[in-house]
Amino acid sequence: MAEDAVLGYLAQNSDLSDSRNFARDSGFDYDEVINVIKSLNGFQYVVATEYEERNWVLTDEGKEYAAEGSPEFRLFSAVPAEGISLKELEAKVGPTVFRNGRTNAMKNKWLIMGKELVTRKVEHVEDKVKDSLTKIQKKELVDQAGIDELKKRKLIAEQKLKGYSVVKGINFAPKRRKAATGLTRENLQRCDWKDLEFKEYNFAAKGLPSEGGYLHPLLKSSYGMLHHGFFTTLHSRNSLLFLLLTHIDSSFEEMPTNNYVESSFWNFDALFQPQQHPARDSHDTFRSGSPSTTKLLPEDYVERVKQVHEVGGYGSRGYSYDWKREEANKNLLRTHTTAVSSRMLYQLAQKPFAPKKYFSIDRVFRNEAVDRTHLAEFHQIEGLICDRDLTLGDLIGVLQDLFSRLGMSKLRFKPAYNPYTEPSMEIFSYHEGFKKWVEIGNSGMFRPEMLLPMGLPEDVRVIAWGLSLERPTMILYGIDNIRDLFGHKTDLTLIKKNPICRIGLQ
Ligand code: PHE
Repeated sequence: MAEDAVLGYLAQNSDLSDSRNFARDSGFDYDEVINVIKSLNGFQYVVATEYEERNWVLTDEGKEYAAEGSPEFRLFSAVPAEGISLKELEAKVGPTVFRNGRTNAMKNKWLIMGKELVTRKVEHVEDKVKDSLTKIQKKELVDQAGIDELKKRKLIAEQKLKGYSVVKGINFAPKRRKAATGLTRENLQRCDWKDLEFKEYNFAAKGLPSEGGYLHPLLKSSYGMLHHGFFTTLHSRNSLLFLLLTHIDSSFEEMPTNNYVESSFWNFDALFQPQQHPARDSHDTFRSGSPSTTKLLPEDYVERVKQVHEVGGYGSRGYSYDWKREEANKNLLRTHTTAVSSRMLYQLAQKPFAPKKYFSIDRVFRNEAVDRTHLAEFHQIEGLICDRDLTLGDLIGVLQDLFSRLGMSKLRFKPAYNPYTEPSMEIFSYHEGFKKWVEIGNSGMFRPEMLLPMGLPEDVRVIAWGLSLERPTMILYGIDNIRDLFGHKTDLTLIKKNPICRIGLQ
């Protein structure tokens, strides 16, 4: 075995300086010797150092000249003292030697080539080319000028050889000890465990990749958002350590968003969105087939909503149109999670007032043309704070705080319009990668036309915002097509490979 040979050699000698020579002398296959050396090196039986050796070897033409002499020498030798005609000379040496030898014989000033006759210019010449070539064959030294000349004439070529020089390592032994992989009953009974050498644990070994149980990037980033310190779940809200770590006000409560099907009433009417508003059109909103209408709505509140739409009140002129109950009853797939906010605020208004902070992250649906940034369904991060005398400055401050925790601190706000908020602001964040301002959300202060019919006290203000979860997730994961992130075209390996999202932890 090559391994015994290598270890045996090192037991006798201080080093094995050249793996190539060793393989040649010992008769083992070179690849086998290299594998053995590498393995022994890994277990520190030996220390192997790689070297690279550059060698000159003769090309086929070089080999021929080494054996037969250079063509110029052969040409010279074929010319007798009295001279010879060109034709005769060519016939004597053959056309190849004649052609190849001619120029060099002239350059070396060995021959005089007349029109008819070829004569010697010197008595005696030496075939330096042949000498150098034979020296190279015997691995003897040749001067640089000689090497350069042979290289130019393509008679030699460089060969790179890699090999190892090997010395004993800290675990050296003339024979490899077989490391035990585990302790057996027999080892204990025989008491030989004391002398056993155990195989070390390989903590760097990768386990088999599991085939299931991966979190989708959207889930990871929504967990990231929950845990980045702004919103907290019930579990983490109770964790003092978590609070200390994040220094945050964790009093946001999660809204129940487990109803994709919503009535037009909560999705639109309660939000003071008039019934002829284009967003309510079936081109923009998915209708629910069965059940197609809702039966249960708080009747007295519905009446107040109808009033405020038709004739106004609470300081508003209303929209002056004929508000229809059938329109409000129509079921749809909620177009925003603000539908849930309106339900929550209504519930809140039914009790003595207490300030609240709510959030949710869940799915919404819009009948939109699908392209690389839009899908017919996506996720919204919704948030609201409800308290007495809040101002637009509070809203800006809260959004600034929220986004800087997500790593987006350059924000701009642009006046916008929503039927349910006044003032309203679109939120833009400067994207360092795209080098431009990107819209990331919408926000505002809920209108008195929405809050007062619910029964909330007059001085209660609600600041609120709605953001897409997909936008920041695509930015965080470097995904530029939403269809790669969500839906049936999603590549499962992306889900398996993407790391956990750690928002706000640098
Ligand atoms: N509902 C809005 C949207 O879908 C977002 C929003 C929420 C705006 C709350 C203002 C207040 O874009």
